Amino acid sequence: MPHEDKMTKLSEMNKLAELGGGEARIKDQRDKNKLTARERIELLMDEGSFVEFDKFVTHRTSDFGMDKKKTLGDGVVTGYGKIEGRTVFVFSHDFTVLGGSLGEAFGKKVCKVMDLALKTGAPVIGLSDSGGARIQEGVVSLAAYSEIFFRNTISSGVIPQISAIIGPCAGGAVYSPAMTDFTFMVEGISHMFITGPDVVKAALGQDVTFEALGGASVHAQTSGVAHFVTPNEQDCFALIRRLLSYLPQNNSEDPQILPTDDPPARSDDNLPRVIPDDPNKPYDMKEIIRSVLDDNEFLEVHALWAPNIIVGFGRLNGRSIGVVANQPSFLAGALDINSSNKAARFIRFCDAFNIPILTFVDVPGYLPGVEQEHGGIIKHGSKLLYAYCEATVPKVTVITRKAYGGAYCAMGSKYSKADVNYAWPTAEIAVMGPEGAINIIFRDELTRSKTPAETRQKILKDYKAKFANPYAAAERGIIDAVIDPAETRSAVIGAFEMLCNKRESRPPKKHGNIQL
Ligand code: HXC
Repeated sequence: MPHEDKMTKLSEMNKLAELGGGEARIKDQRDKNKLTARERIELLMDEGSFVEFDKFVTHRTSDFGMDKKKTLGDGVVTGYGKIEGRTVFVFSHDFTVLGGSLGEAFGKKVCKVMDLALKTGAPVIGLSDSGGARIQEGVVSLAAYSEIFFRNTISSGVIPQISAIIGPCAGGAVYSPAMTDFTFMVEGISHMFITGPDVVKAALGQDVTFEALGGASVHAQTSGVAHFVTPNEQDCFALIRRLLSYLPQNNSEDPQILPTDDPPARSDDNLPRVIPDDPNKPYDMKEIIRSVLDDNEFLEVHALWAPNIIVGFGRLNGRSIGVVANQPSFLAGALDINSSNKAARFIRFCDAFNIPILTFVDVPGYLPGVEQEHGGIIKHGSKLLYAYCEATVPKVTVITRKAYGGAYCAMGSKYSKADVNYAWPTAEIAVMGPEGAINIIFRDELTRSKTPAETRQKILKDYKAKFANPYAAAERGIIDAVIDPAETRSAVIGAFEMLCNKRESRPPKKHGNIQL
């Protein structure tokens, strides 16, 4: 064949591969308001940086007429490229080819980029739009998924793994993302479920819509499976890029330092006024978080799920920081099952990737009650204790108001091995709140008193004078300093800079046994 014809053949094959499942199916994709697999990669990556692998791979199945349904690329676009100049690996499911379903060849393509990402220490991003295991390939496709789950597991804590769900995703197409660090969804077009509405109808006789079974709001608010939700695909890719800016490429690197014009010593005279005079009144902890961080920028993770705790990323004098904070404006900031799970997982992510942790505390305790106890608050709540104790990254804690009981211990306390504990003058550090405490320790006096209301007031006053302040803790060195709230930013920046060469190790072991 002449050279020119060979070039023509290559160009034709490229064109064919780029058409995926063909014009009609691409139109279906657009009609569903979805971009194509390749368009998604273009939007995600730095312009022109994407390099594709395995464009001409096809499956080898002949059952169920599959020999007549071969498509170049086999339903997934894979390769590497750059985000803000840093290498990332990517795979993007092509729903136009057999519903983006995964068979042997497809699985091998995904594993190839996952292996390279692990070997070279670069993040891997999966864009999912897939019906899961390719039914026609049977057990071979289950084996292919198992290969991916294995790689998700060994890569966990070594390279950041990010998943975007951008279509109807079922089976393995959701289990693999669930094993990654962060899951993004797009309103209206993203759906995640073990099996879709048709199978639910067949198995259980239940009628349920895609949206009610596994839409973005369900997973962002109710199940907590999704960490981020965006109104459209473009915003989703922009947010992935922003998230990556806070992360190192792998666990042996520190996150990049991005220079800032925000002065480290910037004070905020509004902060002393954020805490209401009445200790039972709520306020918005995010005001404090934003005030302290560089340029007031905070990337909240899991914003809609378990809002009684806040987690997310920011920067202090250019360095990436993971923030964990109670939110007094929701459930008074009490810790429950979901908030414990949310914060514990975030802390473990930060610890794995060398991101220091800044904690703000205003917590009345673990949420009591039958629902929480029967749901296993003891087991789930202990994950938070475990995660803080296990983490060896620099940890700085600021107690703004209440730090009561087990929740005090859990929220980055000194003896859960936080490095520095600061308190505001409004802090109250005690085993429990004044009312609950005096009901227990002064029960007899209160019952016997002829003037119970007056006795209660007097005891309450004494108790508050002793414990409803930070000074009993300061006397014992349980907190390192009582700071002026206006100066919180400079205090925490100073502490993290002092800690930047911190080295701390734990006894060697195969792995711990966190209460799952
Ligand atoms: C082969 C599949 C497929 C699959 C979809 N298709 N899923 N082909 N294997 N798993 C094909 C359809 O036959 C159809 O082809 C095309 O993709 C588009 O699918 P539609 O159903 O028309 O699209 P839509 O109505 O948008 O519904 C999408 C869907 C639905 C919700 C994903 O297709 C669905 O429920 N699929 C099955 C999902 C599922 O139960 N997967 C679990 C697999 S088990 P044609 O040619 O007709 O247009 C699994 C286990 C892994 O993954 C291990 C876990 C631990």
